[in-house]
Amino acid sequence: MGFLCSFALSTQFLLLSSSLFSTILLTNCLPSNHSNTTHHHHECHQHESYALLKFKESFVISKYASYNPFSYPKTLSWIPSTDCCHWDGIQCHELTGHVIGVDLSSSQLYGSMDVNSTLFSLVHLQSLDLSDNDFNHSQIPAKIGELSQLKHLDLSHGNENTFSGEVPPQVSQLSKLLSLDLRSYTLDPLPYDLINNLQLKPSTLTSLTQNSTRLKHLCLSFVTISSSLPHSLTNLSSLQTLSLYKCELHGEFPLGIFHLPNLTVLNLGGNQYLRGMLSNFHSRKLVSINLPGTSFYGTLPTSIENLTYLSWFAISNCNFYGTIPSSLGNLTQLAQFHVDDNGFEGKLALDMFWKLKMLNTLDLANNRLSLFLKESAVNETTLPPIQWLGLGSCNLTGEVPTWIMNLTSLYHLDLFHNNLHGEIPYFLFTLENLTHLHLAENMLEGQIELAMLSRLKKITFLGLGGGNRLSFIEGKTVPI
Ligand SMILES: *[C@@H]1O[C@H](CO)[C@@H](O)[C@H](O)[C@H]1NC(C)=O
Ligand SMILES: *[C@@H]1O[C@H](CO)[C@@H](O)[C@H](O)[C@H]1NC(C)=O
Ligand SMILES: *[C@@H]1O[C@H](CO)[C@@H](O)[C@H](O)[C@H]1NC(C)=O
Ligand SMILES: *[C@@H]1O[C@H](CO)[C@@H](O)[C@H](O)[C@H]1NC(C)=O
Ligand SMILES: *[C@@H]1O[C@H](CO)[C@@H](O)[C@H](O)[C@H]1NC(C)=O
Ligand SMILES: *[C@@H]1O[C@H](CO)[C@@H](O)[C@H](O)[C@H]1NC(C)=O
Ligand SMILES: *[C@@H]1O[C@H](CO)[C@@H](O)[C@H](O)[C@H]1NC(C)=O
Ligand SMILES: *[C@@H]1O[C@H](CO)[C@@H](O)[C@H](O)[C@H]1NC(C)=O
Ligand SMILES: *[C@@H]1O[C@H](CO)[C@@H](O)[C@H](O)[C@H]1NC(C)=O
Ligand SMILES: *[C@@H]1O[C@H](CO)[C@@H](O)[C@H](O)[C@H]1NC(C)=O
Ligand SMILES: *[C@@H]1O[C@H](CO)[C@@H](O)[C@H](O)[C@H]1NC(C)=O
Ligand SMILES: *[C@@H]1O[C@H](CO)[C@@H](O)[C@H](O)[C@H]1NC(C)=O
Repeated sequence: MGFLCSFALSTQFLLLSSSLFSTILLTNCLPSNHSNTTHHHHECHQHESYALLKFKESFVISKYASYNPFSYPKTLSWIPSTDCCHWDGIQCHELTGHVIGVDLSSSQLYGSMDVNSTLFSLVHLQSLDLSDNDFNHSQIPAKIGELSQLKHLDLSHGNENTFSGEVPPQVSQLSKLLSLDLRSYTLDPLPYDLINNLQLKPSTLTSLTQNSTRLKHLCLSFVTISSSLPHSLTNLSSLQTLSLYKCELHGEFPLGIFHLPNLTVLNLGGNQYLRGMLSNFHSRKLVSINLPGTSFYGTLPTSIENLTYLSWFAISNCNFYGTIPSSLGNLTQLAQFHVDDNGFEGKLALDMFWKLKMLNTLDLANNRLSLFLKESAVNETTLPPIQWLGLGSCNLTGEVPTWIMNLTSLYHLDLFHNNLHGEIPYFLFTLENLTHLHLAENMLEGQIELAMLSRLKKITFLGLGGGNRLSFIEGKTVPI
């Protein structure tokens, strides 16, 4: 039983952290608007055209270099003696004709980045996007610091970053930056982890926060920082996105971040030794708070009820305690609510969640909560579209609730370690998308026909043992 239990928990955590990525990390670091080439009065400057062609020649095209399924080699349209302002991915200034934007995201480029690349002669560049190409584990050249007009720099990758080594301290010279994205992320919904190929020296992060004070988006997930966060981060008054998943951060998280008025996305998950409390939220704009697997602790501040845009709240596997305020039922945008594996306690009426029409994931498992269900109050026609329901160790009593049958999209159902009794209801086997069904450590009894089990075609985890008194019979084939 112990084995089953720990397996279930770790699977759950892996699944959780991966689903968090695909949603948060993909959607929330989209600083620049890459519209297609616009037409201009000016012809491209010859030396800039030359610099771009030299840059193009330093790479080969490989369809394996980009993960985005819609990638294509943009540089194929870069033909000598044509106006570079019309090339795919190139943007020129309306009046001066200087190249101000290079967007070679997902362009199937493969090769090492030259430390003296001609790219760095494009000193008017305001936006550089080289995300999702394969730079063959070369380093980010120090000359990046010479592109002093840069507002947007995106060197992220849709898998582990293909740049390696230390992020040059010269990035902190880019005092006009509005967004810096050096993340690794993935589209894969399955459990995974990425290797941190890049390192950022704490002193570079400190200089950056002191110098690039206009930053709105700072995305460094999977970049090793290995230190505490500098207090100067709280000076970034325009900050909207802070994505620092698995950066090996430790120490105390600067509370002042919660005072930043425009903070929208906060992702600090996977930094096991990062401590912090959720203090009063001054930004009403928070959409996503993602802290699973950190050492955040304390109670939930009552000001959370004012976060009317909050859609993602994940604090699994932290050290929170106290009660779960019923005012959370006011957060109508809430889609993801993961508070499992903490020390929350007290009686909680599940009914408060039925008002949340967007709710996709509800995980309350493995706290010291005592949930009660006013079954009579459940109106099946208005249940939220829940796909993940984690109610393990929630002191549930009575029979398996019948309204679960109407959660037809459910793929994860955890009722592990409660006081449920009676028979395992037939309807559980009609939930066609279930991959995880955990009913072990209850007081369930009766016979299960194996033919019923076989209807759960997608099941990868099934926990029935421990405490239950179940017997299995061959049974007759059940008509579908
Ligand atoms: C992107 O830019 C184009 C052209 O400037 C504009 O029409 C469009 O509304 C912008 N999209 C967003 C999401 O800002
Ligand atoms: C940009 O250009 C590509 C290729 O011509 C096209 O497929 C895409 O739809 C365009 N995107 C926008 C936003 O116009
Ligand atoms: C990739 O890096 C290796 C080792 O540094 C080097 O030998 C190889 O030529 C590089 N490949 C390309 C396409 O740049
Ligand atoms: C880059 O340029 C500098 C100065 O021109 C030169 O000293 C250095 O050797 C060059 N490095 C490489 C790898 O080409
Ligand atoms: C801050 O930016 C300025 C202007 O780009 C630069 O001269 C200076 O070296 C930068 N400071 C640090 C610590 O990087
Ligand atoms: C916050 O966002 C608002 C609206 O976009 C903007 O007007 C304001 O200047 C921003 N505040 C800061 C400190 O950047
Ligand atoms: C929520 O916002 C209202 C209106 O600004 C304010 O009066 C109230 O104190 C806030 N609640 C909390 C718990 O901060
Ligand atoms: C929030 O919820 C609490 C408790 O359920 C309720 O008393 C309060 O009126 C709600 N506030 C708003 C703004 O809906
Ligand atoms: C579990 O629920 C029962 C009855 O609903 C209650 O008597 C008991 O105190 C609860 N246990 C805990 C630990 O809350
Ligand atoms: C359930 O909700 C539907 C839609 O809001 C409503 O029409 C119906 O009367 C409700 N049923 C009960 C028993 O409250
Ligand atoms: C709930 O599920 C049962 C069994 O599938 C079905 O008969 C009933 O119509 C469903 N109720 C709603 C409101 O969908
Ligand atoms: C089951 O999953 C499939 C594939 O994701 C989906 O198309 C289907 O709508 C799901 N069924 C239900 C009842 O949600």
